[in-house]
Amino acid sequence: MKQEKARLYQAPRGTADILPEEQAHWRYIEQEAVSICRLYGYERIDTPAFEDTRLFSRSIGEETDIVSKEMYTFSDRGGNQITLRPEGTAPVCRAYLEHGLKNRPKPVRLYYLAPIFRYERPQSGRYRQHHQFGYEAIGDGDPALDAEVIDMAWRFFRSLGLERLSLQLNSIGCKKCRPGYLIALKAYYTGHIKNLCPDCDRRLVRNPLRLLDCKRPNCLKIAASAPKSSEYLCPACQEHFSQLKRYLAQLELPFVLNHFLVRGLDYYTRTVFEIQPEAEGAQSTLGGGGRYDDLIAELGGPPTPAVGFAAGVERIVVNLKRQDIAIPPLAGPRVFIAYIGDEARDEAARLAAGLRQDGIGVIQAVGSKSLKAQLRQANSLKSRYAVIIGEQEVNTGTVVLRDMASSEQKILAVKSLAEELQARLCN
Ligand code: HAM
Repeated sequence: MKQEKARLYQAPRGTADILPEEQAHWRYIEQEAVSICRLYGYERIDTPAFEDTRLFSRSIGEETDIVSKEMYTFSDRGGNQITLRPEGTAPVCRAYLEHGLKNRPKPVRLYYLAPIFRYERPQSGRYRQHHQFGYEAIGDGDPALDAEVIDMAWRFFRSLGLERLSLQLNSIGCKKCRPGYLIALKAYYTGHIKNLCPDCDRRLVRNPLRLLDCKRPNCLKIAASAPKSSEYLCPACQEHFSQLKRYLAQLELPFVLNHFLVRGLDYYTRTVFEIQPEAEGAQSTLGGGGRYDDLIAELGGPPTPAVGFAAGVERIVVNLKRQDIAIPPLAGPRVFIAYIGDEARDEAARLAAGLRQDGIGVIQAVGSKSLKAQLRQANSLKSRYAVIIGEQEVNTGTVVLRDMASSEQKILAVKSLAEELQARLCN
């Protein structure tokens, strides 16, 4: 067989490695996500990274950008049509039905942190693999639950320290009142058909709600005077929306009504909302969600109202950096063990094992570098202390303990090292 020449590979377009120096941001977001979920009583769920393709086409909608052009779909070796998860709500609903979670006290509150795959045109803040923190409250139609989900999203971003955010809100009605609205929307856009972009031409026929989403300048102008979904709500949807607004006001959440907000997935009913950085608007939406009262029935379950939200972790990282928010550093091992000579190497290994047993994180030197090189390494690893062992220390049962910041050194008996380090590391 012809040997292929060695080459350097790169991460696939639209994906990113999260290097160690990026991890503090990621862990910070994850911790805040977990703690906000604990505060509001949401339990973690993890679903597979891929599912039966039909789960997504059925729930997100055949005419959406996600299903029509962004899914990573393939047949596996068994001939099954598989899709890498392009969003987290449908898999959670599938799991809810599959495992009989409907028998639990409702609403069932679940959250996830998961990679999401969409074949999009990569650009700043838009990736082919991104990560979402999302949560779903399944089994109750009360607008108080919508308010809870929105409140939780808002508090999550605030708890991260993010400021200058805007909360956009709309109601797009239900299957009773939406058809009337779509007729009005179509009639309006048909009157402007000459000035629509080719994409909107298609949307007019296949998915008129998406017309309001178009960001082309001409289409934006047309959308400005389009009929508003909130003016076509049936009495029940109207009541739901006004209750929700009342709850949000009670919670002192500064929402803005946005009549163009329709979201990019077809399963939404009634409430839709997004949280955006004030300066940039919809292009860089941090997170979005809404109610999806028909989705579970659409997937073969009993009628089950539900509401949820998801935020993009990469976009949060960008905003944390942009707003210069101080992130707690990750604590690595703070003790480095250096040695000079073969005998000392064995002693260093014994010492490292002992200190780790005492719960002290240790990085042990390897190889045969000079002491100077080992200490340089300790420094670049940001170790607070170096423990140095040479022939003399081996013979006398001692070690040299060096404070890396002040360069002060002290000779200690091996048996008192753990206690001394524990006391010092507490400070
Ligand atoms: P979504 O708006 O499609 O909603 O995605 C949620 C968030 O994920 C977006 O607001 C954005 O921050 C981030 N995001 C989306 N696509 C990308 C991308 N290509 N690159 C980077 N970040 C991205 C949903 O997925 C719904 N499942 C949310 C939901 C939960 N609705 C109800 N429950």
